[in-house]
Amino acid sequence: MAKLNENYLNIKQSYLFSEIAKRVNDFCEANPNKKVIRLGIGDVTLPLGSLVIKALHGAVDEMSKAETFKGYGPEQGYDFLRNSIKDYYKRNGVEVEADEIFVSDGAKSDTGNITDMFSTDNVVLVPDPVYPVYVDTNIMNGRKIIYMDGTAENGFLPMPDENVKADIIYLCSPNNPTGAVYNKEQLKAWVDYANKNGAIILFDSAYECFVADPELPRSILSIEGAKTCCVEFCSLSKTAGFTGTRCGYTVVPKAIVKKTSDGGELSLNHMWNRRQTTKFNGVPYIIQKGAAAVFTVEGMEEAKAMIDTYRKNAKLISDTMDELDVKYTGGINSPYIWFECPFNMYSWNFFDKMLNDIQVVGTPGAGFGKNGDNYFRLTSFNNYENTKEAMERFKTLFK
Ligand code: MLT
Repeated sequence: MAKLNENYLNIKQSYLFSEIAKRVNDFCEANPNKKVIRLGIGDVTLPLGSLVIKALHGAVDEMSKAETFKGYGPEQGYDFLRNSIKDYYKRNGVEVEADEIFVSDGAKSDTGNITDMFSTDNVVLVPDPVYPVYVDTNIMNGRKIIYMDGTAENGFLPMPDENVKADIIYLCSPNNPTGAVYNKEQLKAWVDYANKNGAIILFDSAYECFVADPELPRSILSIEGAKTCCVEFCSLSKTAGFTGTRCGYTVVPKAIVKKTSDGGELSLNHMWNRRQTTKFNGVPYIIQKGAAAVFTVEGMEEAKAMIDTYRKNAKLISDTMDELDVKYTGGINSPYIWFECPFNMYSWNFFDKMLNDIQVVGTPGAGFGKNGDNYFRLTSFNNYENTKEAMERFKTLFK
């Protein structure tokens, strides 16, 4: 008889954002005349930039002619895209090699799939609150997870503790869900901890494009010593509005080499290459052409203009929190605003109140871990008018 992976019994019945979508859909069906404003899942609303669209059209035309048609591409991504990502890193002061960059359909898949590379007896350290993908994918594999508290006291930026021994560490900065950002010294402390303990840091930098402060690091690979212990995941979802178009990349430095139990060596870069060539057939050529347009200097200007639009919404939300004296983090170097639930409410109850009373959707902090129980996340990924209306409605809760 086939035996199923019973580790699935240990995860929640449904994924956080699926649960929210279900509750919102049920509400909309029951209240068809109410206008719901969605500031829940971090899904972009602006259309793709004109240079991306031009590149996509050009690639579609190439696919229509025998001379330029493309079949299977390299599983790791086309050289034109890997090189343009390498140049993007270089412009930001970080040297990576093209064969350390693996193009994928996004950071969510890669942060989950990377678990294939690690033995199940590794101890995994995650912050709490945390993006649920890191936790759920490791539970699916039966790994032990330990949590480090992200609280208002430490600015939601937990630091290494020499008494805690972890093998795999997930960090996300700018953080989802709290919007907090590690500075260089803090990331250096993490890199030193990982190198000292032989650990690997899985660094999610999906929100790097929101970093406005030039003193804050956008890549952990800019930190000395990181290339022997850090894998970096990034995505065009938030950088250039690719949530539906799907394209991301993972940088696996060749310097990450670990001893095997028989005294040999394994390179993580080699393993990831082996995994991707076996289990993945690459991102569609058309999409990669669109992605390459983002990494040109002009493409980045277009992307920055989109990000600036979301920044204005973030400012509007954080100004509202200031006005109402609600404590929050994020909103400056991040698209997320993370705040204490008003009226001492539990976050799922506050979610229901927001939906029922003012028809604004957010994300309950409890979905990100126990330290989120009394917190709530709003996203700036909507248009200005809706964000403004949502904040006007939000203020009515306090009257
Ligand atoms: C979020 O809302 O946390 C993100 O959009 C989810 C994701 O990127 O998968």
